Amino acid sequence: MNILFVASECAPFVKTGGLADVIGAVPKALAPLGAHVRVLLPAYPALAMEVSRGTEVLSLPDLMGGHARVVAVSAKGIDLLLLEAPHLFDRPGNIYLDGNGQDWHDNYLRFAALSRAGALIGDGALDDWKPDLVNAHDWQAALVPAYMALAGSTVPTVMTIHNIAFQGVFGADVLAAIGLPWDMQSVERGEYYGRFSFLKTGLTMASRITTVSPTYARELMEPEYGMGLDGVMRARAADLSGIVNGIDLDVWNPEDDANAPEGYSARTLRKKAINKEALEGRFGLTRGEGPLFCVISRMTTQKGLDLLLEAMPTLLERDARLAIVGSGDKWMEHAFSDAATHHAGRVGTIIGYDEGLSHLMQAGADAILVPSRFEPCGLTQLYGLRYGTIPVVARTGGLADTVIDANLAALDAGCATGVQFAPVTAVALGQAIDRTCDLFSDQKVWTAMQRRAMKHPVGWDASARAYLSLFSALTES
Ligand code: ADP
Ligand code: GLC
Repeated sequence: MNILFVASECAPFVKTGGLADVIGAVPKALAPLGAHVRVLLPAYPALAMEVSRGTEVLSLPDLMGGHARVVAVSAKGIDLLLLEAPHLFDRPGNIYLDGNGQDWHDNYLRFAALSRAGALIGDGALDDWKPDLVNAHDWQAALVPAYMALAGSTVPTVMTIHNIAFQGVFGADVLAAIGLPWDMQSVERGEYYGRFSFLKTGLTMASRITTVSPTYARELMEPEYGMGLDGVMRARAADLSGIVNGIDLDVWNPEDDANAPEGYSARTLRKKAINKEALEGRFGLTRGEGPLFCVISRMTTQKGLDLLLEAMPTLLERDARLAIVGSGDKWMEHAFSDAATHHAGRVGTIIGYDEGLSHLMQAGADAILVPSRFEPCGLTQLYGLRYGTIPVVARTGGLADTVIDANLAALDAGCATGVQFAPVTAVALGQAIDRTCDLFSDQKVWTAMQRRAMKHPVGWDASARAYLSLFSALTES
């Protein structure tokens, strides 16, 4: 089976969040099952080297106002199709934001172009390769089903929601510029409170919809989580599946991680202490009785880190420490930097994005905090499980699906892998931190939980098979 993925990010080439990890990992997980995935990605400057090594497979003389071409290249085990369109993608800095931190003014053109190229390839524009199915990821690729339907294509399409908070909503006047007819601005298609929504268009027009965990699939149908699209999701409930994300076990491997000084396994867990020392050094932290918590996250209200600021006194009272790396909302960056100044040695903050450091943190910390208000899947808790870094998570979305709370029954049954809390409030987070410190103080209970966490299956095996059976059902019907 040939499958085309269309997405705006792909690890290790270009990444701002979990979407990239998933796009980089699924093709490799599907290959042994007999599915050949090619990933269509914009040729941002970070991909210049790959473009120079590649072969042109498609020329598009006028794509949203300029010349474009598609270059095929295999890199790091992934078959890439790179959409080179200098007028849209050859820009420095963030792939979504300009130098002032605002969305690029022409994001509707940039990602309509990506979708348009995806639709052409989906409908057989390449000489030697035609997909049996196209999987569009998030709003940046969400116009693929629309362009394909307009071209009369019968190739099935799957729309995957990684985060419904990002919808690609623009004034309805963009329709002409992106080559869509006015009837796309209907309630049944892309109309969204008088404006035009890329994601809604994809959700109403794709053959099937998937999202990245079973709990999030249910939550999406509720007003609290659907972000205005819960009605659309309810209308398409029969076509919606939640398939939980996995992680790339080669990239995230505590036994062999180039960013951690010492490799360790469930059997040699005590060696984790060497990484903890390195991590303490990196953040200027001192030793304490309590656990060393870490956070690796975008700093936004989605991630609930404002609750962590509120719950900080509990953490400090228990003689625990916190190492946090992240970037995002400026007020939050400042608040965590201030916390590090006021509680030097107890709280360490690094503002920025640092892939290598995130590995060291997973390898060295005792626990990882993920207090998200909503979380479609979440990956850092999965990395935590694999590294024996106990996840302390809000009971929502994929966090609810992947962590087994250390309640009495789970402890008795010997199956707990972490701590969950609900509702998602500062008080409940404080209680969860307290509970984690209690568990940590009994090292026998704690190490048993770490070992269990490390054995919990977090690879792609089961989910890759779930994707394949969904894809097969679609291509056979
Ligand atoms: P989201 O995609 O919503 O940001 P996920 O948990 O799915 O959340 O994925 C986040 C990914 O980005 C993980 O791979 C995580 O390790 C990484 N990440 C987030 N912030 C940072 C950071 N400041 N430095 C390094 N990696 C980060
Ligand atoms: C989004 C979600 C996150 C998910 C990731 C990959 O960024 O916020 O929860 O893990 O996509 O699917």
